[in-house]
Amino acid sequence: MAAPAREIASPPPFTMKPLSPVGGVEIRGIDLAAPFGDEVFDAIMDAFLEHHILVFRDQKLSGEAQLAFTRRFGEIEEHVGRLPNGEKYPLLHVIHNLDEDGNPVRISGGNYFWHTDKSYHAVPSLLTMLHAVETPSEGGDTQFANMHMAWDSLDRETQEEVSDLCAIHSWEANRRNTNQSPATDVQKRERPPVRHPVVRSHPVTGRKALYLGIHTSHIDGRPKEEGHAFLNRLLRRATKADFIYTHKWQKGDLVLWDNRCLLHRAVANFDMESERRVLHRTVVKGTVPY
Ligand code: OGA
Ligand code: MN
Repeated sequence: MAAPAREIASPPPFTMKPLSPVGGVEIRGIDLAAPFGDEVFDAIMDAFLEHHILVFRDQKLSGEAQLAFTRRFGEIEEHVGRLPNGEKYPLLHVIHNLDEDGNPVRISGGNYFWHTDKSYHAVPSLLTMLHAVETPSEGGDTQFANMHMAWDSLDRETQEEVSDLCAIHSWEANRRNTNQSPATDVQKRERPPVRHPVVRSHPVTGRKALYLGIHTSHIDGRPKEEGHAFLNRLLRRATKADFIYTHKWQKGDLVLWDNRCLLHRAVANFDMESERRVLHRTVVKGTVPY
């Protein structure tokens, strides 16, 4: 019988260069601020699913244009927390190391630990997008760890052991694990602990991935200390050098990544007290992990 005719997809209207064996692809030749059709968006989505991290170089995007591009992937995630004045965070928020007068300062915080965005929500993030508006002359990298590779690397016995486990993730655990001031009662009420499988299936590709990070507290149904230690050991194994891509930012980079199969963290390898690092951030809401 003759093989069914396959549609020959036209080549995407941009160039792609894979960045590492772990993932990441550099995309040039497209201006994300200009309108483009669904077939171009489909090619972007295919690249996203294959490479997990998209790096669009040389983008000049207004906040509005970034929001419009973000919306094509799904619903934009709102922040649960409030600004000190009680107002909601804007949908596009700014990651920076600046004080109230706009001067660079030393910063720390949860972003500097391995995590997947908003895993302390029942419905965590699908993707996060950062646009590099100001970059330090050196460093200020972001690292990504591929959790498909981490899962694939486990021996059968460990795979069987972790397959049925669920971890408790919470904002409270995040604050504790990252040595920051404890979560307030209001925050604890607004962000109660949630339970997610330690191994999740990617909702589009079906591939399995470990689902871990600094927001985890313990394992459901196991003594807290023991579960916490177990998750820490697993996290160390899951973030070894072989599974990591380190992104070195260039001004104008627009990077988006798949939170369903990657962990990420900021690296404190720049001169925070004298150099500025400013990134515009948007997040797309995902689905309940299974
Ligand atoms: C984030 C994040 C890391 C960085 O935006 O979710 O973790 O390098 N950022 O700024
Ligand atoms: Mn993050």
